[in-house]
Formats: sequence, C-alpha cells, structure tokens
Amino acid sequence: MTSPLVKQGRGAEGSQRRLVADPAHRTGLPMQVNYWRGAPTLSDPGSTVQIAAETDVANARRVGLEMSARAGFTGGDQTVIAAAIAEVAQNIVTYAGAGEIILTEVSDGRPGLVVVARDSGPGMDVPSALREGFSTVGAPGLGLNGVRRLMDVFEIASTPGKGTTITMTKWRTRPS
Ligand SMILES: Nc1ncnc2c1ncn2[C@@H]1O[C@H](COP(=O)(O)OP(=O)(O)OP(=O)(O)O)[C@@H](O)[C@H]1O
Ligand SMILES: [Mg+2]
Repeated sequence: MTSPLVKQGRGAEGSQRRLVADPAHRTGLPMQVNYWRGAPTLSDPGSTVQIAAETDVANARRVGLEMSARAGFTGGDQTVIAAAIAEVAQNIVTYAGAGEIILTEVSDGRPGLVVVARDSGPGMDVPSALREGFSTVGAPGLGLNGVRRLMDVFEIASTPGKGTTITMTKWRTRPS
C-alpha cells in the first residue's frame, strides 16, 4: 500500500495557491498546495549525486551549494537548500543504506531548484515520520519537519518495503 502523498507549498507572489486541511492523511496540519503556473520547463539537465555512505552526505551538500549559487539564490537560501539536502541524504544513509539525490533547475515563470531524494529502502509511515519528535532510532526526530519548513514545496511518497521519494522545491525570490 502506498502511503499518502503529503504536499505543501509556498508560492511566490501572485502564484495560485490555496489552503487545504488534510484530515484523510491524519497529519492534522493545514497543507498549502502549490500549483505550477503551466507546465514547468527544465532549464538545466540536472545533477545526480549517489548516496551510499556518510561522505556522500557532504558531497550532496556541496553540490546543493554549487547548484543553488549557480541558479542565483541568495547566500542564505543556498545554505537553506544545502541543509535540506544534507538532511534527506543523511536519512537515506541511516534508513535506506543507499539512494540518490537529483537536483534540477526549473522555471514556471519564476526560477527554482527541485531536489528529488529517492531510495529503495524500507519506506516509512509518512504521517508518523512527519510528527515532530518521532524517530525510530531515538534521534531528535526533527529532520523531516525541518526540511518541510525550509523548502517552499515538499512532497513525500513512501511505500513500505519499496522505498521513499521526497520531492522539494525552492523558488528564487530575488531577481537575476
Ligand atoms: N529515507 C527514509 N527511509 C525510511 N525511513 C525514513 C527515511 N527518512 C526518514 N525515515 C523515518 O522517519 C523518521 C523521522 O525522520 P527524521 O529525519 O524527521 O528524524 P530522525 O532521522 O529520526 O532524527 P533527526 O533527523 O532529528 O536526527 C525516522 O526516524 C525514520 O524512521
Ligand atoms: Mg533525519
């Protein structure tokens, strides 16, 4: 059974958006759903970082810094994006053992960076995993929620026994 897709977004000024409750998914949190303004175009072929060990976490963070700098994000946003990437990369190492992170510049009228983190690990119960303080290893259990707040759009799809895919987007707010 596929766990529910949880999606939230924070659009740039003028983008279409709405608030929806999420009773079906029992997270109890209001979700802001982001709508693409037309089909997004990929403005960059993207970079893939293979994740299989702790050292790959640092590598993914570095690629995140590089790509966000190249895409024109502010220094603050570069740090935010790199931190979000490092967290999902660390989760891949800890819980799935291996996976990959794909970074792609996109535009739907505003420039942005999409990060996809995917693995073929054990999967998770998404509503539980998104609860602050929930951890299956006695860790603080703050990572996924932190990432969710740092990024503008956050989606997580997980299937027990099959794996997890997290897709997250940051929009660039300053003009080029
Ligand atoms: N890629 C993944 N595959 C399987 N389970 C995952 C994955 N990522 C997270 N989880 C599950 O979700 C839980 C919550 O993850 P989260 O990153 O929020 O906290 P944590 O890793 O336990 O602690 P922290 O990130 O604060 O050190 C984890 O304890 C784990 O059970
Ligand atoms: Mg974590």
